[in-house]
Amino acid sequence: MKVLVIGSGGREHVLVWKLKQSRKVDKLFCLPGNAGIAQIAKCVSIKPDNFKAIGDFAHRNKIGLVVVGPEDPLAGGIVDDLRRRRLKVFGPSRKAARLEASKVFAKEFMRKYHVPTAPFKVFDNPAEAIGFCKAVEFPAVIKADGLAAGKGAVIVKSHKQAESVITDMMIKKSFGQAGAKIIIESLLQGQEVSIMALADGKTIIPLLPSQDHKRAYDGDRGPNTGGMGAYCPTNFTTEEVNEQIRDHILTRTINGLNEEGISYKGVLYAGLMLTPQGPKVLEFNCRFGDPETQAVLPLLKSDLYEVMMAVVNQKLASFGQLSWHPGAASCVIMASRGYPGKYATGAQIAGLTGKHENGSYVFHAGTSRRENRWYTAGGRVLGVMGMDKDLRSALNLAYRTVHKIKFEGAQYRKDIGFKASKPIEA
Ligand code: AMP
Ligand code: GLY
Repeated sequence: MKVLVIGSGGREHVLVWKLKQSRKVDKLFCLPGNAGIAQIAKCVSIKPDNFKAIGDFAHRNKIGLVVVGPEDPLAGGIVDDLRRRRLKVFGPSRKAARLEASKVFAKEFMRKYHVPTAPFKVFDNPAEAIGFCKAVEFPAVIKADGLAAGKGAVIVKSHKQAESVITDMMIKKSFGQAGAKIIIESLLQGQEVSIMALADGKTIIPLLPSQDHKRAYDGDRGPNTGGMGAYCPTNFTTEEVNEQIRDHILTRTINGLNEEGISYKGVLYAGLMLTPQGPKVLEFNCRFGDPETQAVLPLLKSDLYEVMMAVVNQKLASFGQLSWHPGAASCVIMASRGYPGKYATGAQIAGLTGKHENGSYVFHAGTSRRENRWYTAGGRVLGVMGMDKDLRSALNLAYRTVHKIKFEGAQYRKDIGFKASKPIEA
């Protein structure tokens, strides 16, 4: 079977890498892909927002499965478009993708269907939002409604700071139209866990839980980023908490969407806070997490292509259990200096090629290649994965590979997994 993956980051690199392990996949394309992906798949230079050209390409090349990585084309309706052209597509429809594309939609949906989340209020008027902050308890959280590459949530500690964030989002339009509406919500405390679940509109199968590291610097300090590293599995959830996640969060969400006439097919990502009152949703994404996927999929033993086809064909119920490799996996992001703010690109990368230790693999997020030289070409540059018998060994392996890779201004967290051994605060 021929498979086309859409996207160009580390997440798409791991998707392509895992799909390549399937005996049923004989040719892999990635659109547009990146320099790292080009080593294992054929990259196609069509923009992910050119749905017509993508559909034409897929038909011309007899693609049997299209996998959509990033949120932008999903929110733009790529799945609806390609399905109308009778292609098999892994990913939710435009309407279903609103769970990620509009935080206001997601929060109001959760309120309606009793999915646990932080109490909140929505504003489309900056003066009213600033006025409301006079009465809120700090710290509080301010979020832009629309897509902001994982950077649209800010924890504010004072009224003055809240005023400045609201002014930036709503008046100075730092996130463009994404900040036309904002949410102000209560701060939740606890361990954060990312749960990705396969959904075919009826049946849900959760993948192993993972933990991202959103802040730029060690000790969870600095600005929010797209994610600086992840590990899998986490051990924070008891059987009871897992049940709550399945019944109160995932099932209620899929059933609620069905009540709204929306069938969710693809992967549903729930970013959760495990609070003393139970798990609560921080955010939904309508796609695989980045970098969580680089730590979760290496552990998947089942054939990813078969799993994805079961989703597309609404056959998850008869698919049975997923099987997993024992042990743990971790991913450390190497970013350009200055990320998530302004950063330089074009630095030469040394130590990238050649054989890494068994169990370690380097996923590319933002690189370019000229002849046999590699250069940085993005904020997040590489996701260095290590997989071993336990988390400590998996982290050590990933960091040993990180230490072999050098580029000017390389910035990475040295404490990925630091919260792993702490018990749940109850
Ligand atoms: P979001 O874009 O909504 O996922 O938020 C990004 C990050 O901000 C989350 O991963 C959390 O670390 C943090 N965050 C968001 N909402 C809250 C909240 N209500 N309480 C505490 N932290 C939050
Ligand atoms: N790592 C968070 C995300 O993919 O949105």
